[in-house]
Amino acid sequence: MIDLHSHILPGIDDGAPTLDVALDMARHYTHQGVTHVACTPHILPGVYHNTGPDIRLRVATLQHHLDEAGIALRLLTGADNHMVGNFTASLGNGHLLTLADTAFVLVEPPHQVAPARVEDLFFALLIAGYTPILTHPERLTWIEQKYPIIERLAERGVWMQITAGSLRSVFGRRPRYWAERMLSEGRVHILASDAHNVTSRRPDLAEGRDAAASIVGASEAHNLVVTRPSAVLSNMHPKDIPSPGMLHVANQRCVQEYASDGQKTQPVGNVSGGLFGGRLLRIFR
Ligand SMILES: [Fe+2]
Repeated sequence: MIDLHSHILPGIDDGAPTLDVALDMARHYTHQGVTHVACTPHILPGVYHNTGPDIRLRVATLQHHLDEAGIALRLLTGADNHMVGNFTASLGNGHLLTLADTAFVLVEPPHQVAPARVEDLFFALLIAGYTPILTHPERLTWIEQKYPIIERLAERGVWMQITAGSLRSVFGRRPRYWAERMLSEGRVHILASDAHNVTSRRPDLAEGRDAAASIVGASEAHNLVVTRPSAVLSNMHPKDIPSPGMLHVANQRCVQEYASDGQKTQPVGNVSGGLFGGRLLRIFR
């Protein structure tokens, strides 16, 4: 597996506080079956003053420590780029970073309020040739009122990354509800750990993959943590990468509808495949 969102770099943000914790996280990754991790510390003006060149240096340093410790994990450059006004220009001058110097870039919007013109930023990135990956939409509190924004972004070509822990209620009921809903609707491209430590926010990609498989099946769960992340690192064109919108449910499965509070209601019938037209459905195999 490949994890495209991780705060494993030590001492640079609210992720691993020390080298020892970073090494522990790396061991957790290898035990989970993860071979590659993109180091994506926050870049947030006024809070985390990280820059592309410094992140590159720190990735190389941590890779050296992993190699010395005999931990078979390959690190890649990246950043958890928070929304700033001059985003595209900052990618161009190297202050912000894409994932492994590809055209794919993590973008984290504010959690509490949908910023004005949020769609303009994503569309500007698309026009500039980037594929923005919106980080953990399921954990944005404004998703409750403004889900159509997320839907429009996805329809225009913005990728969606949900957090593995959301599928096992690490962030509570609502993020789990939205993560499961977006998976069921075929809107999720990438599953990532967004790991920060080895306790409350540990590398948990294998558990996340298994939880996703219970909703979208093993094949699509594999796409979430192997196929698409691998295609990202190969910098493939998005049109050549399997889309979650093509998610096909081959066999008839029982579909159960969820109430708005995330509680299961009565089964609503069987389906034979495809997207579910925006309905709130969960598939049981
Ligand atoms: Fe993050």
